[in-house]
Amino acid sequence: MAKDEESVREHYGDLVQNYTDAYDAENLWNVKIYPAAHFRLVNFLNTLRNSPKQRVLDAGCGEGSPLIAVAGLGHDVRGFDFTDEMVETAKRQFSANDMDPAWISKASIEDYDSFAALCEDGPFDTAICFGVLPHVNSELNCLRNMHKALRKGGTVHVSFRNELFNMFTFNRFTYGYIMDSLLGGAPEDIRETASAFLEDRVERNIPPLRVSTERGKPGYDAIKAKMHNPLDMPALFENAGFRFKRIFWYHFHPIFPMLEGKAIDKRRFREAAFELEKNPFDTRGAFLCSAFVVEATAE
Ligand SMILES: C[S@@+](CC[C@H](N)C(=O)[O-])C[C@H]1O[C@@H](n2cnc3c(N)ncnc32)[C@H](O)[C@@H]1O
Repeated sequence: MAKDEESVREHYGDLVQNYTDAYDAENLWNVKIYPAAHFRLVNFLNTLRNSPKQRVLDAGCGEGSPLIAVAGLGHDVRGFDFTDEMVETAKRQFSANDMDPAWISKASIEDYDSFAALCEDGPFDTAICFGVLPHVNSELNCLRNMHKALRKGGTVHVSFRNELFNMFTFNRFTYGYIMDSLLGGAPEDIRETASAFLEDRVERNIPPLRVSTERGKPGYDAIKAKMHNPLDMPALFENAGFRFKRIFWYHFHPIFPMLEGKAIDKRRFREAAFELEKNPFDTRGAFLCSAFVVEATAE
């Protein structure tokens, strides 16, 4: 497990600038990687507009841009992350924005004690956890740790990779999801027949495996990065002491992802996708979106 954590840290340690660039609204059309994190953040900020002052905790806060945007709406913020480079940059960005760098600390969401000091000033009203739960050992444990940090009635917003998106991609993820999950326990003759059927129908070599980053650190496909089924979310959150409220869909795909930049020009793809991002409650997102955020309330 320590090896899993180390590769997640190495991966994110190499991506600090990518996040800073993606949060700059000027860059939405030209950042190399689709600016999904921008839309995830906008959806969250929209829930805070016109709300009274909140104490907001960001678990796995990355390089700090989301919290700076939250503070810009007048809220009190605290955050932690377990990757040194992210923590250093978040502290630097806080200082540059006249915010106290001590509001950021190095800690893991898997260990409540590591971030308990941030909760000493009182419970939080809201906690966000974006892009973190794909990488953890126990989602339930992490949600319980967030629950401990919140007041009764407080809110969490937690993002996940969407397993159902595999049914729209027609690629190696579709093959893997059908063979490993849906038909994982099926009799061998059924599995062999399904595999042969899929062979001609999905692109099993697409997308190429992201084994390393541009600078040679572990790529996203080389680190633990679980997907989750949105239909499992009410039970998961209820188990952790929350009342499930709703799902925000984000990172919309207006067409099969393998056609982006090929049959459909990259700019056209983004134009159509950005249009869809305007409605995070469009239920087609259950298949068109590669990610989603769960909002739930602490009981
Ligand atoms: C996809 S990035 C998102 C960063 C930030 N939440 C955002 O929305 O911009 C995921 C972040 O989670 C952090 N992370 C992963 N596992 C963690 C853990 N167990 N505890 C704290 N941070 C973690 C990584 O270091 C990385 O900064």
